[in-house]
Amino acid sequence: MKKTVIIYGSTTGNAAMAAETIAAKLGGGDIKEVAKASKDDLENYENLILGSSTWGDGELQDDWYSFLPTLKSANLNGKTVAVFGVGDQFSYSSTYVNAMGELYDAAKAAGAKIIGATSTDGYSFDESTAVRDGKFVGLALDYDNQDSLSVDRITAWANQILPEL
Ligand SMILES: Cc1cc2nc3c(=O)[nH]c(=O)nc-3n(C[C@H](O)[C@H](O)[C@H](O)COP(=O)(O)O)c2cc1C
Repeated sequence: MKKTVIIYGSTTGNAAMAAETIAAKLGGGDIKEVAKASKDDLENYENLILGSSTWGDGELQDDWYSFLPTLKSANLNGKTVAVFGVGDQFSYSSTYVNAMGELYDAAKAAGAKIIGATSTDGYSFDESTAVRDGKFVGLALDYDNQDSLSVDRITAWANQILPEL
């Protein structure tokens, strides 16, 4: 695996836990809270794994907002990006993991190659901007309703993306 950083935003610790588990399953990678991330992180790593829980009415976790302009204006040509999202598909069924869709759009606009799309099988929700062409743009997690599935989902995803990192 080339140099990899996992940058996440988390309010109550779920996306933070996901970041830790992803690193463990990948067998490496640095972990950074987005509140402490800098432009250098985007330049110094070849692979970026970006994650956020979803808050409000389908919004990014708060800490992402000060870093989003940096991400959007970065040149990510030649970088590989994978995204993950944490949400609650039953209570927020029409905005499930929308934050992941926002991270995907930002990384794509910055020129990154994006990997790690996954099936929506096994989830139940009405709408999500993180679904494109019938698939999640990355890894969707739901610790509120499907906690026991999370580790297996992360393991499968890590195995899926590892050959491309
Ligand atoms: C006020 C509030 C708003 C939320 N809005 C959404 C939402 O729009 N979409 C979604 O998928 N989850 C939503 N959630 C669920 C959180 O994303 C979920 O609980 C997540 O696990 C929190 O992760 P964190 O601890 O990393 O911040 C919301 C939760 C709360 C309390």
